[in-house]
Amino acid sequence: MKMVLASRNAHKLVEMREILSRLGVEVVLESDVGVDVDVEETGETFEENAALKAKAVMAAAGLPAIADDSGLCVTALGGGPGVYSARYGGEGLTDKDRYELVLDGLRGQLDRSAKFVSCICCAFPNGDVLTARGECPGVITYSPRGEDGFGYDPIFFLPEQKKTFAQMTGAEKNAVSHRGRALAKFKTELENYLNGTDK
Ligand code: IMP
Repeated sequence: MKMVLASRNAHKLVEMREILSRLGVEVVLESDVGVDVDVEETGETFEENAALKAKAVMAAAGLPAIADDSGLCVTALGGGPGVYSARYGGEGLTDKDRYELVLDGLRGQLDRSAKFVSCICCAFPNGDVLTARGECPGVITYSPRGEDGFGYDPIFFLPEQKKTFAQMTGAEKNAVSHRGRALAKFKTELENYLNGTDK
């Protein structure tokens, strides 16, 4: 089965391909099937935004489409930046500007707890929809640590691993990350769906 990835994020393509190829699913880009859909992420939840993206691309391509919506939720920031993680602080900011905004917002704050959330949605042309959510709890550091990764990785610390996401290898991060967990759940859901056991 061919599935279109509703994202231009190369990191996501690699992760999705690796996991879904084991189910015989070929993950392709929008450009591979001649579509280019710009979806406004107007949802208030990760689930809504993932569904918006997957459904729009499925409708344009006429093929099953998969989307992921993710972000960082910080307890002392009322769950923010949350669904606004990619645009926190407005347009034109760098990843560093955005994580520094989070550090500024937590100045003097003792509660540093946070979690990353990922929601995956797959929409099929027959109207069926599969969703899976993964979460990864952690704490926000007082200053950035590590060089790898992207986004808020340098300020997201996992006490058990004693590392930020930016100090982990890709494999270490995937084993515990919100996206890794959501993808593992999604893989099981899709397996059941393709075997017809959930009908
Ligand atoms: P999305 O592409 O709309 O899902 O945007 C998610 C945003 O959340 C990204 O632009 C990052 O800022 C942040 N984010 C999501 N997952 C991660 C992660 O694994 N590490 C660091 N930042 C992340």
